[in-house]
Amino acid sequence: MSIQQDNRFQAIISHAKEYGFVFPSSEIYDGLSAVYDYGPYGSELKKNIRDHWWKSMTQMHDNIVGIDAAIFMHPTTWKASGHVDNFSDPMIDNKDSKKRYRVDHLLEAKADQLREQGPDGEKAAADLLARMEQLLAAEDFTGLRTLMDEQKIVCSVSGTANWTDIRQFNLMFSTQLGSVAEDADTIYLRPETAQGIFVNFLNVQKTARMKVPFGIAQTGKAFRNEIVARQFIFRMREFEQMEMQFFVRPGTQMEWYNYWKQTRLNWHLSLGIPAEKYRYHDHVKLAHYADAALDIEYEFPFGFKEVEGIHSRTDFDLKSHQEYSKKKQQYFDSDVDPATGKPYGNYIPYVIETSIGLDRMFLLVMSHAYDEETITKEDGSTDSRVVMRIPPAIAPNKLAILPLMKKDGLPEIAKELLDECRPHFKCFYEEKDAIGKRYRRQDAIGTPFCVTIDHQTKEDQTVTIRHRDSMQQERVKMSDVKSIVLSAL
Ligand code: GAP
Repeated sequence: MSIQQDNRFQAIISHAKEYGFVFPSSEIYDGLSAVYDYGPYGSELKKNIRDHWWKSMTQMHDNIVGIDAAIFMHPTTWKASGHVDNFSDPMIDNKDSKKRYRVDHLLEAKADQLREQGPDGEKAAADLLARMEQLLAAEDFTGLRTLMDEQKIVCSVSGTANWTDIRQFNLMFSTQLGSVAEDADTIYLRPETAQGIFVNFLNVQKTARMKVPFGIAQTGKAFRNEIVARQFIFRMREFEQMEMQFFVRPGTQMEWYNYWKQTRLNWHLSLGIPAEKYRYHDHVKLAHYADAALDIEYEFPFGFKEVEGIHSRTDFDLKSHQEYSKKKQQYFDSDVDPATGKPYGNYIPYVIETSIGLDRMFLLVMSHAYDEETITKEDGSTDSRVVMRIPPAIAPNKLAILPLMKKDGLPEIAKELLDECRPHFKCFYEEKDAIGKRYRRQDAIGTPFCVTIDHQTKEDQTVTIRHRDSMQQERVKMSDVKSIVLSAL
């Protein structure tokens, strides 16, 4: 990360705290590493992103329905899903500092350093990452260790290369079910929401009378004991996912994989975020359940990183749950197969998954929106403002209603407008402080429109509406404000 980008990222983190978007968790006790709380504007923004995703999945598709499964699941779920045996990262400890690292993070950090050395460095970084991906795919820990030695990777705390061997570290949190420890049974906090969908596949298919192809969507918390939690809310130990499993006829999975690859990118672009900030990254090392997988990456201030995964999960999960539970997970397809002239009959569907981190999407929106702008005034002097250019559809507040003064009947008129608009979208009302100061505060939390009620409003029922991004102001009829805001959403 360049110094300029690093400064921007630090500014976003400070802004998030100062304006009530994100706070470190239990901050009065000095916080808890990689755990965060969302404040008044953050919780609104997060909810709006979640709702936007939910609507695009369930309301805008005839064949996708939602569920809300529990975080705790029967422990066998995680045996069947492969998480007990496979959900681990290669880790290494530095013997001098006793610090633990993810091996891929150490190598990625080295690649970042190389890139800063110009075109030769770019090539060296690309070679390094390609070798790393191959070694990870082959789970070749000796090769990874040799690569670390060749790259002269040292611990950032001790400065030494006195490393332990590389070993796997399971990322699931476990706890006990039951009030008495002796009776207790070990259960896990779910590391992905997807399994709640798989184990309910037949319940949903039957009760909602779904026909393949169909999808089940879910949003909810997931937990991973990330050893190296970094980059603010990018990698957290408690986070939220928005996942959709799309059940398809075996053999059609690549068609649907390509459909969802494009559809999900379109969702991102529909928020007005520029296409050049996104790219696809095909996986070399496939997860234990996948026959194809890619990431949708976004250019965060610290480089292109994954925000969403599209995975072709085959019939791995349903098949495995069938095996472990001894309950059939089959679907009867009455459509006629043109090749045989007979119904497709019973099969275990294949699955295409779209999985996006809500917190990561939140960080994406903050990174896109944050802007420090210098303003040249009419007299030639300059001023500056921080403006959050949050897409209006997901902004925490849509409209700020600001009576110019706290007297002469202006607050009463403003409250009439508030009563008219608040059933339709989130409004904010404020009487205190000079109007310029109030505008700046709304810019900083990303409110797309401010309306000022002044003495002229009493005469002709017009108000001044100010547009956040251009700062342009226009006089409009008070009765038009609601529709102006609604049309921007
Ligand atoms: N069900 C598939 C699955 O969980 P994943 O690639 O491990 O796949 C999906 O995770 C998404 O969840 C990621 O693209 C990312 O946005 C988010 N995510 C994963 N781990 C995270 C973490 N520790 N903190 C925040 N978000 C995370």
